[in-house]
Amino acid sequence: NLTPPINWVVKETSYTRLCSAKKILTVNGLFPGPTLHVHKGDTLIVYVHNQARYNITIHWHGVRQPGNPWSDGAAYITQCPIRPGEKFRYEVIFSREEGTLWWHAHSDWSRATVHGPIIVYPKTGASYPFPKPHAEHSLVLASWFKDDVMDVIRTALVNGGDTNSADAFTINGQPGDLYKCSMEGTFKFLVAPRKLYLLRIINAIINEEMFFGVAGHSLTVVGMDGAYLKPFNTSYIMVAPGQTIDVLIEADQPPGPYYMAAKPYVGVNYGYNNISATAIFQYSADCTNSFRPSLLPDLPAYMDTNSATQFTKNLRALADQNHPIHVPMSVDVRLNVVVALNLLPCVNNSCKGPYGSRISASLNNVSFVEPSTDILSAYYRKVRGVYATRFPREPPVKYNYTAEKLGNEVLASRPGTEVSVVKYNAAVEVVFQGTNALSAAENHPMHLHGYSFYAVGSGLGNFDEAKDPENYNLVDPPELNTVGVPKNGWAAVRFRANNPGVWLMHCHLERHMSWGMEGAVIVRNGRSRNTRLRRPPRYLNPC
Ligand code: C2O
Ligand code: CU
Repeated sequence: NLTPPINWVVKETSYTRLCSAKKILTVNGLFPGPTLHVHKGDTLIVYVHNQARYNITIHWHGVRQPGNPWSDGAAYITQCPIRPGEKFRYEVIFSREEGTLWWHAHSDWSRATVHGPIIVYPKTGASYPFPKPHAEHSLVLASWFKDDVMDVIRTALVNGGDTNSADAFTINGQPGDLYKCSMEGTFKFLVAPRKLYLLRIINAIINEEMFFGVAGHSLTVVGMDGAYLKPFNTSYIMVAPGQTIDVLIEADQPPGPYYMAAKPYVGVNYGYNNISATAIFQYSADCTNSFRPSLLPDLPAYMDTNSATQFTKNLRALADQNHPIHVPMSVDVRLNVVVALNLLPCVNNSCKGPYGSRISASLNNVSFVEPSTDILSAYYRKVRGVYATRFPREPPVKYNYTAEKLGNEVLASRPGTEVSVVKYNAAVEVVFQGTNALSAAENHPMHLHGYSFYAVGSGLGNFDEAKDPENYNLVDPPELNTVGVPKNGWAAVRFRANNPGVWLMHCHLERHMSWGMEGAVIVRNGRSRNTRLRRPPRYLNPC
């Protein structure tokens, strides 16, 4: 199904939040950006016109794009950035996804304001595998910075301060009642008593995982990352940057206004901007608009790792007849990837990190360096010298990753543009191992482009190759595109490498990604025609 092409203009637009006006990057002047509505199986053409002062690309987060990494939008991985004054044609192919995904800028930190929902409905004629909601709404969680985002990057990365959360968190572009000068705009969702609603929650926040809940109401989680889940009830959800969670909510309480709120889960106890972003779940029967809710939802504290883990444990794929899953039962290729923050040497205040910073971040101690031209074209045209294919499949040294004190082996990293090469159709397992480096262990939401993977297991401490796989869920593991590697723990995922191309893999905390917590996977072509990388579009520009 080819739907009519869409034109997007990236430009700066003035917005006022937290009592002051500033210019932000937008698509078509909107913050959050426009929502895409498609059906499973559709192909969408989006022309992106860059009328801003900055380079930009747009990524379709969670869309597999079979054989078509050319439109994946990862700057310097699958394309060169779209320069000011230029345009780019994206062909977005929806194959198996169903539910909520999102799109966002994939260059610098411009995704702070350049992002929006993608709603993938079932094929025409098919219906949701849950009761039909009376209405649905997306809720986009985002970060608001008072300063220019380009300046924020520099301060955040160079100083390596970990407390640089946003000046506000927002729900659908609005910080909500608890922030200064924000009451007027607070987002409201009108509901009717006893009706059922679907909320599509997107975490577009730059650096924080979030807890979310609605005061007095229970949520039924039904989907995540563009795939359905076995429904379960909960009073809160935990959603990492990159992830999307679909919940049903029934307006079954005495009519009135109720707060919906989102606040960070960080897992570490340090001074923190702990104000919740709020929106209002408002029964239309209650029409006095100035009437404000009195109670916030009872959300876990920002260092409450237990509650975060408890939530994640409930995630299981729907895995019914109409939504079968295909978990590889055995593994051809295994990657053991240590996900770490590193401390680099400094001489006279000038340090060896990516921004002259003291801190870098790495996968198996390789701190990713953006190449000068995109890896995909270099791979396709066999240009040498752009990337190396020696990304280590094992950490360079084995040690007690989650020990209280770590030695220099983890604190070191080396810069490199290294990729893993995998044969077509190989069954791949990646085990992400977190560390306790810098004693500021954090969850790392690890995201892979071009795929969703099955999150077959996770745990605290060091991964035990002999024992832990015995407890994998190979029956109904959730199919995600972004998996949380627990604080001081590990997460294992499996997927079938049946999408040829060059695909980025990275932590979705922007700070970590900028410090080098990324890598790429090249999946080779298969033999038959539709198992090969498509030809490059003719409009590609060199960097
Ligand atoms: Cu949501 Cu590489 O991105
Ligand atoms: Cu991270």
